[in-house]
Amino acid sequence: MNTPMDSPAGSVRLWTHELAFPLTPATIFGREAPLGLEIGFGNGAFLVDFARRHPDWNFLGVEIAAASIDRGVRRLRREGISNARLYCGNGRLILWDTLPEESVHRIVVNFPDPWPKEKHEGRRLLQSEFFELATRRLHPSGEIWLTTDHPDYFDFAVSQAEATGLYEIHIEAAPSETLQTKYAEKWQSMDLEIHHAKFIPLEKSPRDFCPRVKEVPVAHARLQGDLSQVGSFQKESHAFEGGHVVLLEASRSLDGDRITFEVIVEEADLRQALLVEARPCQTGIYVGLKHFGAPVQTRGVRLAVVKVADWLESRGMILMERVE
Ligand SMILES: C[S@@+](CC[C@H](N)C(=O)[O-])C[C@H]1O[C@@H](n2cnc3c(N)ncnc32)[C@H](O)[C@@H]1O
Repeated sequence: MNTPMDSPAGSVRLWTHELAFPLTPATIFGREAPLGLEIGFGNGAFLVDFARRHPDWNFLGVEIAAASIDRGVRRLRREGISNARLYCGNGRLILWDTLPEESVHRIVVNFPDPWPKEKHEGRRLLQSEFFELATRRLHPSGEIWLTTDHPDYFDFAVSQAEATGLYEIHIEAAPSETLQTKYAEKWQSMDLEIHHAKFIPLEKSPRDFCPRVKEVPVAHARLQGDLSQVGSFQKESHAFEGGHVVLLEASRSLDGDRITFEVIVEEADLRQALLVEARPCQTGIYVGLKHFGAPVQTRGVRLAVVKVADWLESRGMILMERVE
């Protein structure tokens, strides 16, 4: 039996800080091979089956539900699958912001959340924009597979793909491997019809879909003043082009000479929770990112440090230096 191949961090699970922007799939799998991407793998039944049947492929599974990731990791280990990796986050982030052009051989979406209410239609994964983006990330021989029990979602996805004018669409019987997932079994036991389509790009979208999340040099600032005199804090939200930064809370250390700020940064489809610290240094008060939780140093993270420095300045401290 194979044992799981280690990713650079020694796990089948990929963490956000292991994602380079852009990502070279060969570095996370340790080899060049066709890449399959499943978005919303649920309990991982399809993923494991696909990875086992195609040992010559690399397979990346993405899930927004942390519990699915835990189950998926256990399943991959139990089954001794060595050619799959799992990432907890938004599948669109992986496709848009990390994977290079023409790097994906198949995108699989099995039983996507249907968002049946009209007002929630915008939350559906398979929108025209997604189909356009996929034309840039799919390999010239690549395709998208959709399987769903939901006729409205199916018609919606087909019409969204058609509206791009970039696809040949094959509506056909679902391949047996897509009918073994938890949801496939559930809907089949209720005798619901299952719909399947293969979307084959005919040409690339003229829009280039440059990655929206970029790694940038880290920011820091130096101020002068007395941190112990800095008073009460209230949550602050700051929008910037492509995202926002929320300074959630500020806490003083027990010895009273440091303040740690809890921050949420959301940009594109990436959400990061991080800590920014203000602490005494030889030349004043240093403000910088705390190395906790290994955030990816993006524009939003850099702005978080700037906003903390601004807040301290607004509380009477004097800004000496700010490196952005
Ligand atoms: C209805 S379930 C289907 C699960 C599995 N494919 C199956 O057939 O059993 C939809 C799954 O997609 C996940 N999901 C929804 N939107 C997602 C996104 N943007 N990126 C990654 N996963 C997503 C949900 O967490 C959920 O597990």
